[in-house]
Amino acid sequence: MIDSPSEVRIVDITRGEKYEMYLYRCIPISPKSASTFFRKYSKRRQYLEEATPRRFHKAILIFKEDVVGQIEYAPAEASGLPISGEDIIVMNCIWILRRAKGHHFGRLLMNYMMESEPQAAGFATLALEGHLSPWLRKGHMEYLGFKPIDSVRMRHKTKHSDVCFETYLMWLPRRAEAKPPSWDKDKLLEGVSFCMAHPLYHPETLKTMKQIYERC
Ligand SMILES: CC(C)(COP(=O)(O)OP(=O)(O)OC[C@H]1O[C@@H](n2cnc3c(N)ncnc32)[C@H](O)[C@@H]1OP(=O)(O)O)[C@@H](O)C(=O)NCCC(=O)NCCS
Repeated sequence: MIDSPSEVRIVDITRGEKYEMYLYRCIPISPKSASTFFRKYSKRRQYLEEATPRRFHKAILIFKEDVVGQIEYAPAEASGLPISGEDIIVMNCIWILRRAKGHHFGRLLMNYMMESEPQAAGFATLALEGHLSPWLRKGHMEYLGFKPIDSVRMRHKTKHSDVCFETYLMWLPRRAEAKPPSWDKDKLLEGVSFCMAHPLYHPETLKTMKQIYERC
């Protein structure tokens, strides 16, 4: 139960030092692990250096002084996902910790993103179904308002290669006439590098392999 709206704050942490560790890692986080991570995780640092001047944003949701949520988004051309389109904002990630469930904080973060990008024709993201990880479920993204407009059936080439899963391109137009996004399916098979916690992350250990996924 939220007693007062002031118990909930959304803070843009893209610039400034106070919450810098949350830029480099997902919540939950311990400050100790953050400092080592900050130095080691060069792909994330590289992504932030390229994307921040191109209107990348990350915001955290603080409830009763506890950081329990995050959202990360950027124009398609600066996003961490292989999605493109005109005036489209791509949501790299959204997450509300289980301990803060039941307050519709996910919707608050979605509204925050949409209000902070008034010129966007629509919003896009990826979702998964049948993946072994519990993250980025299609049902969760549908609950937040996105609809699937295309999908690829794929599997990891070396890890649990017997498991096929669907990756969906999800779309939430702001205006009915908005042109839907497209995606680069070959690039998708390379995985993503902007965040280590992403279920489609391409680890350094497989750097000699260009595409770590294949269709199935
Ligand atoms: C999707 C998400 C942001 C929604 O969080 P939230 O807004 O706090 O959701 P709430 O717990 O307040 O639920 C709000 C309502 O939606 C419902 N709901 C939540 N997820 C749902 C789903 N997948 N399908 C249908 N309804 C759902 C809840 O039952 C609740 O309904 P009620 O109000 O009738 O009780 C959150 O579930 C989440 O972070 N999921 C994981 C996202 C993820 O994988 N991130 C990447 C990590 S790498």
